[in-house]
Amino acid sequence: MAKVRDIAVVCGDGIGQEVIPIAREVLSCLHPEFEFFPVEVGYGRWKRTGEAMGADELALLKSADAILFGAVTTPPSPDYQSVVVRIRKELDLFANVRPVKGDGFDITVVRENLEGLYSGIEEVGENRATTLRLLTRRECERIARFACSITGPRTLTVGHKANVLKSDVFFREICLHEASVAGVKCNERFIDALCLDVLLHPASYDVIVTTNMFGDILSDVAAYLVGGLGMLPSANIGEDYALFEPVHGSAPDIAGQGVANPVAALRSAALLLRYAGDISGADAVEHAIQQVFSGGIRTRDLGGSAGTKEFGDAVLYELGLKGTT
Ligand code: NAI
Ligand code: MG
Repeated sequence: MAKVRDIAVVCGDGIGQEVIPIAREVLSCLHPEFEFFPVEVGYGRWKRTGEAMGADELALLKSADAILFGAVTTPPSPDYQSVVVRIRKELDLFANVRPVKGDGFDITVVRENLEGLYSGIEEVGENRATTLRLLTRRECERIARFACSITGPRTLTVGHKANVLKSDVFFREICLHEASVAGVKCNERFIDALCLDVLLHPASYDVIVTTNMFGDILSDVAAYLVGGLGMLPSANIGEDYALFEPVHGSAPDIAGQGVANPVAALRSAALLLRYAGDISGADAVEHAIQQVFSGGIRTRDLGGSAGTKEFGDAVLYELGLKGTT
C-alpha cells in the first residue's frame, strides 16, 4: 500500500478543467488530511508560455505521492509533443490499467505505456514519415509480469497482431512465457478480432494485456460497453509514481459548457483511493455513482440533462458529504 498525502492536481485543458475539480472535492471531503497542489501543464500553458510543461512542473509532479490528472489537448502538429506521453515516460509509468466494469463483466485492460507506436522515435520528411514501433524485452517482461500479478486465478488474454507484426511475435512470446512462469491461465487473440469480441462477449474476458496503441484503441472501443468515454477511469502505475486520469481527452467539442460527464474522473479518484489503501472509500465512491444513476440523474452523453456540477453534488450528497441545498 502506498503512503498518500500530497496529491498533485493537473486539470489540464478543456473538460479536464471541469471534471477534475469534482473528483478533487470528493477526495478532499473523504480525506481532509490530503494536501492538494495544482500543477499547470498542457496546451493552455503552451499557448501562454511557449512550453507545455516546464522543469518546475515536472519536479512538482515528482514530489507528489499521487497525481490526479484531467486531460490535455495535443494539436496534431509535427513539432508539438504530447505532454501526457512525456509525463508517462519521465515518471516511468509503465502500466496503464483501465477497468471496464458493467453488468456481468469485469474487464481490465493493461496497456504497455512507454513504447510501441508511442515510442516517440519518428521522423516526418518531405516524402515519407516514419514512427518506430519499438518493443524492448525489458518493457514487455515488465508489463507481462504486472498483468500476471493482477490476473491471479482469472484468465489473461494477450492482444496482439503477431500474424503481421514481427514486433508482436516478440511481445506475444514474452507474454505467453511470463504467464506460464507465473502459472496464470492465458489465451490470445488478434487485436482487431479482439476489439469486436470484447463488445460481443464481454463476460469472456478478465485481464487483457496489449501494446501501447492497441490498448489505447481497445479501451476506447470497450467504453461502448459502459456508455461511452465519460465513464472510464485509468491508473498509470510505475515503480515510484502513480497518475490517475480519465480515459477520455479534453473534449474540445463540449468544453466550457458544464455538461461533461464527471464519472470517469470520479472513478479515477476511486482508483487513487484504492492505490492509497482506502478500499472502503473507493467502494463508497463507486456505490455513490450507482446510487445517483439509480435516482435518474445523468449527464447529457448518457441521455440525461444534469450538468457536471449537479452530478458531482449528487455524488457528494450520496456520500453523505453535502446537503441538498
Ligand atoms: P475525447 O476523449 O476528448 O473526446 C471524444 C468524444 O467523446 C467527444 O465527442 C467528446 O465530447 C466525448 N467525451 C469525452 N469525454 C467526455 C465526458 N467526460 N463527458 C461527455 N462526453 C465526453 O477525444 P478526442 O476528441 O479524440 O480528443 C480531443 C483532445 O484530447 C485531443 O487534443 C487529444 O489529443 C486529447 N486527448 C488527451 C488525452 C489525455 O490527456 N490523456 C487522451 C485522449 C485525447
Ligand atoms: Mg486514448
